[in-house]
Amino acid sequence: MAVIVEVQSVSKRFGSRLAVDGLTLEIPSGICFGLLGPNGAGKTTTLRMIYGVTRPDTGTIRVFGIDISRNPRAVRARLGVTLQQNVSIEALSPKENLRVFGRYHLLRDPEFSRRIEELIDFLDLRSHANVPVRHLSGGFQRRLAIALSLMNRPELLILDEPTTGLDPAVRLALWSRIRELRAAGATVLLTTHYMDEAQRLCDQVAIVSGGKVIDQASPSDLIVARLAPEAVELDCPPEEEAALFSGVRPPSHRLRVGKRIILYADDTTHLIEHIRRRDPGDRRELVVRPTNLEDVFLALTGASLEGGA
Ligand SMILES: Nc1ncnc2c1ncn2[C@@H]1O[C@H](COP(=O)(O)OP(=O)(O)O)[C@@H](O)[C@H]1O
Ligand SMILES: [Mg+2]
Repeated sequence: MAVIVEVQSVSKRFGSRLAVDGLTLEIPSGICFGLLGPNGAGKTTTLRMIYGVTRPDTGTIRVFGIDISRNPRAVRARLGVTLQQNVSIEALSPKENLRVFGRYHLLRDPEFSRRIEELIDFLDLRSHANVPVRHLSGGFQRRLAIALSLMNRPELLILDEPTTGLDPAVRLALWSRIRELRAAGATVLLTTHYMDEAQRLCDQVAIVSGGKVIDQASPSDLIVARLAPEAVELDCPPEEEAALFSGVRPPSHRLRVGKRIILYADDTTHLIEHIRRRDPGDRRELVVRPTNLEDVFLALTGASLEGGA
């Protein structure tokens, strides 16, 4: 598979803060790729360097095989970017905003008008196409922001936390739009701290912490390589652990967060039967669930994604 983004040993410092620390990343073309990490991990800074608005202190970045520091315009013409903050003009309607962006990309009629209509339909903006942006809900504004970034039919679409703060229905709708774009051949690079989003949407994820990539693979490969597919969670203070688990084959991996332990195994049936035998009154509530990327993140960094860096 061709590589569309190549980030090599890139670092970026803001004063005393090392935001990105020797980060290396290869993004294959045609997939949905997620940068996954808590607030402050360096995701936005990495994206900004990839589309050429922030310069790395050291390292190199190639997009479409082009060195972004040498020829940012050639790269940007083929990119679409949606930032965490919406960039649309508040006094104008979605349709008018799309016209302004279309002019910026030097599109001409009839392609120009056709593209605007296509994007209004694609992002379900028709009912609010002529309403000033300042009157639109957050969900509509985000959809408009994505429509704007698609105006030039980008080969690579960069989305910084596309669904943060949106309600579940809007998130679902956006996920399906992102899948359609990928199916049409675009590469999508997004950041998120939502596990479900990364797991459902991304073909590959890079787990970012402290400005570094800790691991990169498909979500299911990460789970298998780092933990195991099934998880059992229960409350069990450290002093009770030895008694509860004596006589059972220990699970391949375990994590402790305070008095809670999470056990990971290929098949948790034996483990559950054992715990039930030791605990005949069923006092301990067991949660049995598939292992997810949050578990992997915890195992790799010792920190929770929601809790921040
Ligand atoms: N322009 C800036 N000036 C100073 N510090 C910054 C700037 N941009 C980012 N940082 C710092 O760099 C770190 C990484 O930030 P960021 O890339 O925004 O992380 P993320 O997007 O993963 O939340 C944070 O500690 C942040 O405060
Ligand atoms: Mg960010």
